[in-house]
Amino acid sequence: MKVLLIGGGGREHAIAAALARNGDVKILSVMGKKNPGIFRLAEQTLLCRETDVSGILGFAKRTCADYAVIGPEAPLEAGVVDSLEDNDIPCLGPSRAAARLETDKGFCREMMERHNVAGCPRYRLCHTVDEALAFLDDYDGDLAIKPVGLTGGKGVRIMGEQVDRSGASAYIRQLGGEVVLEERLIGEEFTLQAFVDGKHIVPMPLVQDHKRAFEDDSGPNTGGMGSYSMPDHQLPFVTRGDFERALAIMQSVVDVMAKEGHPYKGILYGQFMNTAEGPKVIEFNARFGDPEAMNVLTLLRSDFATIVEAVTEGTLRTANVSFAPAATVCKYIVPEGYPDNPHPGDMVTVGQIHPQTKLYYANVEEREDGSLATLTSRTLAFVGIGGTLAEAEKAAEAAVSSVQGKIRHRKDIGTEALLKKRCEHMRALR
Ligand code: AMP
Ligand code: GLY
Repeated sequence: MKVLLIGGGGREHAIAAALARNGDVKILSVMGKKNPGIFRLAEQTLLCRETDVSGILGFAKRTCADYAVIGPEAPLEAGVVDSLEDNDIPCLGPSRAAARLETDKGFCREMMERHNVAGCPRYRLCHTVDEALAFLDDYDGDLAIKPVGLTGGKGVRIMGEQVDRSGASAYIRQLGGEVVLEERLIGEEFTLQAFVDGKHIVPMPLVQDHKRAFEDDSGPNTGGMGSYSMPDHQLPFVTRGDFERALAIMQSVVDVMAKEGHPYKGILYGQFMNTAEGPKVIEFNARFGDPEAMNVLTLLRSDFATIVEAVTEGTLRTANVSFAPAATVCKYIVPEGYPDNPHPGDMVTVGQIHPQTKLYYANVEEREDGSLATLTSRTLAFVGIGGTLAEAEKAAEAAVSSVQGKIRHRKDIGTEALLKKRCEHMRALR
């Protein structure tokens, strides 16, 4: 079976590694920049813009791809799924219309409101600067300010956290008015990813991501510095009831998309804030999370290619989807100065790492002599696996400390101390 894989980051390396566990799968890779980890797993590679729909279609036809898996959001927005499926190449990924759940935050909130989907925060979709400023003036409390389109996870500003009231108006002016303003949610964040076949959804282990650049959740937002998951696939500050409610919210979104004529299939990523009143939706993504993909795909025990088939054929309800009962801790190393002033071109050397620890390549350059150098985004990810969170964290940390170079990472991700803080925060809220 030949699977076209679009994307060249850490998430896509984890997808490629999961696919490659089935020896009958041949990977055809499309990426904007050569990822050495994916390159080694792929039978053929096309280096091109990941939004070059006709270039990708041509490559898929030439190489006789049976299926396609789309890693990032940009190709979804560009319509790559519509084009491949028009040419009988089924995709793990939604159509452009269904991907609006992620690519258009206004569409997402209006859909939730129209159909009374639970977990929708109070919000206002604004079209002009004046409208947004008037709403801000009238609103007694803190708001989250979100551009409606894609921003690589770095476009949101939270009042009371990153900006004050005057910073909020300045940001609204800078964005030009097309914004979603919504109530600032207080709680603990968690990620629920699910396989979706248009109708049925199958959840994956819960993960907590860490967006802030520095320890103790300080500094600017990043694409995500790391993430962890627990052996029971739940999180200690999320009750079984919270989990069931989050899953029910995702199922109702899938039901609504089908009812509105845009059935959703692929990966649905729900980012939730677990609040005093239960889980509220921060956003949906139309793809795996990066880094969250690395936690769940490292644990995936079932054949990924069979799941891809089941998603595209609408037979997910009877498919075998299971994950190893272990904890994972994923830590990204990033260039000095990341994310504001990342320093590219610094050599990175990875030492001896334990076979139970996975290394996924991300935004890194492999030179002709095999040496690695930083670029401007997240460099390499290490995923420690363990019977307990502490074991997984120790494994990830040991691997990261084997690295030499001008890089940094967040030491606190996956530590007991951080987890305790999350749980105490949740207890204080409820
Ligand atoms: P996003 O780009 O939507 O993933 O948002 C980036 C980060 O902003 C999230 O991980 C949250 O920490 C935060 N955020 C987004 N929306 C809200 C909200 N309504 N209330 C509080 N924090 C939010
Ligand atoms: N980890 C957040 C994202 O992939 O959007």
